[in-house]
Amino acid sequence: MSVVMEARSTFDIRPLSPVLGAEVVGLDLAQTLDPATRQRVYDAFCRYQVLCFRGQRLSKDQQIAFTERFGTLERHIARNRGSDNPLVHTVSNLGPDGTPSGKVGSQEWHTDKSFRPEPSLATILHAITLPPDGGDTCFADMYAAYDALADAERAELDGVRVVHSWELSQQKHGRTATQEEIADAPPMRHPLVRTHPDTGRKCLFMGVHASHFAGRPMAEGRARLAALEAHATQQRFVYRHKWRPGDLLMWDNRCLLHRADANFDAARFARVLHRTCLRGTAPA
Ligand code: OGA
Ligand code: MN
Repeated sequence: MSVVMEARSTFDIRPLSPVLGAEVVGLDLAQTLDPATRQRVYDAFCRYQVLCFRGQRLSKDQQIAFTERFGTLERHIARNRGSDNPLVHTVSNLGPDGTPSGKVGSQEWHTDKSFRPEPSLATILHAITLPPDGGDTCFADMYAAYDALADAERAELDGVRVVHSWELSQQKHGRTATQEEIADAPPMRHPLVRTHPDTGRKCLFMGVHASHFAGRPMAEGRARLAALEAHATQQRFVYRHKWRPGDLLMWDNRCLLHRADANFDAARFARVLHRTCLRGTAPA
């Protein structure tokens, strides 16, 4: 066996909770990751589901370069017209006048863009401005939630397909999607139980855009999905991330649900993060 010596970045991976999540300490993401480092990061990402890179200060272009190291960047042109860099989406509680509006988006459990044919593989969120305390992001482990179901329920749910719909998830919030939005995001069917393409493990795939079971009465599917979400988001499956300045999170949308917690005074303090997403594959 030959040993190839390579210059590698050294960094530590430390679990953040017994459930999921790990922090990566000692890696500067403004530098290009060499192949071995990139692989080590990706392996840790698959194992821990959420990675928190501490102490980062990336420009938008550097965040894009980091994202593209792992695959194809998703574009958000329509949502970001007029932004200085339309490939990076700004997540914030600021109103049009640039002051805190009191409104915090994404507070319901979801997985990003599950209404798309190829939902996001990962989301990368970089803290720019944080409130003095709170504004946490919560993550629920969909492998553990699936594994904890009774055998009979697992067998019953395997093979069920769920309709994910932007239009219907907007209705839950009392908002009517525009014709343009509906045309852009028609309803999509995905398996309720998917197999993670990298780990080979089964997990639940649902969240706010998951409306009902395909080919079954709507009310029945909705009740089942609500019960499953209550099961899957019990505290024992959840990691709560308390943001620190310089944090950059990278999470696996294939096997997690997540939500923002508005546990801060959102009418008084700014919370601004930069977001990029990696394109995924059709759930199977
Ligand atoms: C997201 C998201 C949660 C948060 O960017 O996709 O859900 O805490 N963010 O802002
Ligand atoms: Mn989200």
